[in-house]
Amino acid sequence: MDHDIKDLTLADKGRLRMAWAARSMPVLDEIKRSFAKDKPLAGVRIAACLHVTSETANLMEALKLGGADVRLCASNPLSTQDDIPATLVKHHKIPVFAVKGEDHRTYYRHILQALDHKPSITMDDGADLVSVTHSKRKELLPGILGGTEETTTGVIRLKSMAKDGVLRYPIVAVNDAQTKHLFDNRYGTGQSTIDGILRATNVLLAGLRFVVAGYGMCGKGVAMRARGAGARVVVTEVDPIRAIEAVMDGFEVMTMAAAAPLGDVFLTVTGNKSVIRKEHFRRMKDGAIVANAGHFNVEIDIPALAAMARTRRRIREFVDEYTLPDGRRIHLLGEGRLINLAAAEGHPAMVMDMSFANQALSVRWLLGRAKGLARKVFPVPEEIDREIAALKLESMGATIDRLTAAQKRYLSEWREGT
Ligand SMILES: NC(=O)c1ccc[n+]([C@@H]2O[C@H](COP(=O)([O-])OP(=O)(O)OC[C@H]3O[C@@H](n4cnc5c(N)ncnc54)[C@H](O)[C@@H]3O)[C@@H](O)[C@H]2O)c1
Repeated sequence: MDHDIKDLTLADKGRLRMAWAARSMPVLDEIKRSFAKDKPLAGVRIAACLHVTSETANLMEALKLGGADVRLCASNPLSTQDDIPATLVKHHKIPVFAVKGEDHRTYYRHILQALDHKPSITMDDGADLVSVTHSKRKELLPGILGGTEETTTGVIRLKSMAKDGVLRYPIVAVNDAQTKHLFDNRYGTGQSTIDGILRATNVLLAGLRFVVAGYGMCGKGVAMRARGAGARVVVTEVDPIRAIEAVMDGFEVMTMAAAAPLGDVFLTVTGNKSVIRKEHFRRMKDGAIVANAGHFNVEIDIPALAAMARTRRRIREFVDEYTLPDGRRIHLLGEGRLINLAAAEGHPAMVMDMSFANQALSVRWLLGRAKGLARKVFPVPEEIDREIAALKLESMGATIDRLTAAQKRYLSEWREGT
């Protein structure tokens, strides 16, 4: 079987970690059971470009149980957990093309290899797979029924492709499901980003000034968790609504220029580029720590930092120390790539359960309709979102009230006032 992974002997370790994640993924487990019985994806070829983690392995298993022929490559050169490709290849016979730390050329070669089995469905995280298909493997486009997209940055890119009229097949924006971004982006990124910073540096957050750039769903989670660890949290924003929300949530809000000389730790999570750049590095304190949790490694202007620095050395596994001409040291974590996946294990399975339930059910939904859909970006249907929330609640032992007939009537009419 075709594959390119680091080390097949890691397969048994990966199997244990995959099983550990599965214990916290009851909704996906339910989907696995129903897919195994009904085979809704029989004969469907899926190329997936996702972070290759223990949770993703469980999604791959679900798709395969549903009858799909799946291939997987990484959606980031640093996010692969090398025992997972090993177990998928050895124990599940799923071809994987992913090695943690792969260089830029290998990353794109792996995407091309994932496309080699001529998929009818693409599953993306950041839209690199879709972008490569549209630029380098155009001959595959007529055979592709549709795709799904996992993250905010990917949805932005795909909507831009649709707006320019170049998107050639329909995509479901899994990120935009409420059971995805309200939980994965906020609680998943919030906790795992702090985890990544701590594993990389082992700093004590209490008392430090922690600057979060971007108060979207991810930034809210990171700010909340940094505050919980005792940090003094500062938020930078460009959107006045998000900024006022941060103020009312009790955070200090200022520009990056004002935050630069104050911050001990900086974390970008905006989906934008050059959020921390030369003029900010110039004003930072000696010892400042800079990290990113946004999708691409463009939020911190690393080339500018490298050009300013007198020396650069790796002082811990995920810490590069850049020394500026005046002797100040700036510490860049995880080469500016998503720190929660580079230095930690990404989101906990408990939250990926909902994200990947959306992925699996969105693929089934697409297959039923793809031929009649326009070439644009579609939301996850509300009934899927609500079904996932209900299943998750049930798995957590929480029950909710039901509307009475009188309440239903009251909520749907205008005559009744005080
Ligand atoms: N690390 C992870 O595991 C993970 C998980 C989910 C999403 N993401 C990625 O994180 C990024 C953010 O996702 P989100 O869902 O929070 O997006 P979002 O759109 O909800 O929020 C982004 C926020 O950043 C702000 N912003 C944009 N440019 C800015 C700038 N120059 N300075 C300050 N703020 C700025 C925007 O106004 C917005 O409020 C995306 O790239 C997304 O793909 C990463």
